[in-house]
Amino acid sequence: MTNITRVGILGSGIMGSGLAEVAARAGYEVVVRSRSQAGADAVFTGLDAGLTKQVTREKLTDEERLAILGRITVTDDLSELALADLVIESVVEEMAVKKALFAQLDEIVQPDAILATNTSTLPVVELAMATKRPELVCGIHFFNPAPMMKLVEVVRPITAADETITTAIAFAGSCGKDAVEVKDRAGFIVNALLFPYLNNAVRMWEQATASMADIDTAMQGGCNFPMGPFALLDLVGLDTSLAILDALYDEFRDPNYAAVPTLRRMVAAGQLGRKTKQGFYAY
Ligand SMILES: NC(=O)c1ccc[n+]([C@@H]2O[C@H](COP(=O)([O-])OP(=O)(O)OC[C@H]3O[C@@H](n4cnc5c(N)ncnc54)[C@H](O)[C@@H]3O)[C@@H](O)[C@H]2O)c1
Repeated sequence: MTNITRVGILGSGIMGSGLAEVAARAGYEVVVRSRSQAGADAVFTGLDAGLTKQVTREKLTDEERLAILGRITVTDDLSELALADLVIESVVEEMAVKKALFAQLDEIVQPDAILATNTSTLPVVELAMATKRPELVCGIHFFNPAPMMKLVEVVRPITAADETITTAIAFAGSCGKDAVEVKDRAGFIVNALLFPYLNNAVRMWEQATASMADIDTAMQGGCNFPMGPFALLDLVGLDTSLAILDALYDEFRDPNYAAVPTLRRMVAAGQLGRKTKQGFYAY
């Protein structure tokens, strides 16, 4: 099994910064790469603010906060991932962008380093084939918010070596997560089952069956879900949600996966949820 001590994270969005915190808390040396130095600095500032809040709430000591931050380096330079034993890519859900980054990374990291993607739906095998090390490529799919959510889906493309999957499962375990293994199919387990529900919730609201707040209240109270579908869509991000539905529809042609028009229009309007302070709700 590959011995992992250094973890590279590509992407400084919701998931990139969450993954950095998870890996640094687990004791790994972490390098986060953003496209701009400003973006990279913002990740560090955001992580510090989040950890400081936890110190205030006495969930973390100040020494622990400093130790976690001390293990995190941020950069805008891809070549600073050269020494990573494992890189987890977590940039925008667009195949062309991810493929180009995998090809570049393949030239930069050590020959035995594992390249993983945090994609929610895209075919991992296509990223594997963008490299000269398809046997060392897999999906390591964390959930949002990464520091809180217990589950990790380890995605096995047909090209992956058993050892790559074993190492990915062990890595997830070392981060305190429960890993499940799943084939490289759009949506894996969770999103393939979750997104028809979220999409149909928006459809139900479009049909004026009930108000948004009442649909959320109903699913919380009636199913014991921690939040309703609209609050969850805002948390995931409407652009990411639309990309997930489009990828699911592309693969399976199931009408339940065909994104409802409202979702597409809101994304076109830049109303992406919590991250833009306006989604189904205002923040
Ligand atoms: N949001 C979720 O709930 C969630 C959960 C699990 C997995 N994911 C997956 O994680 C990945 C990132 O999602 P997110 O929610 O963090 O998105 P986000 O919008 O918060 O962040 C996207 C990141 O990609 C970067 N980016 C955009 N275009 C780029 C380009 N051309 N080259 C390099 N970087 C670029 C952005 O600067 C940003 O850092 C996606 O693959 C998504 O499917 C998301």
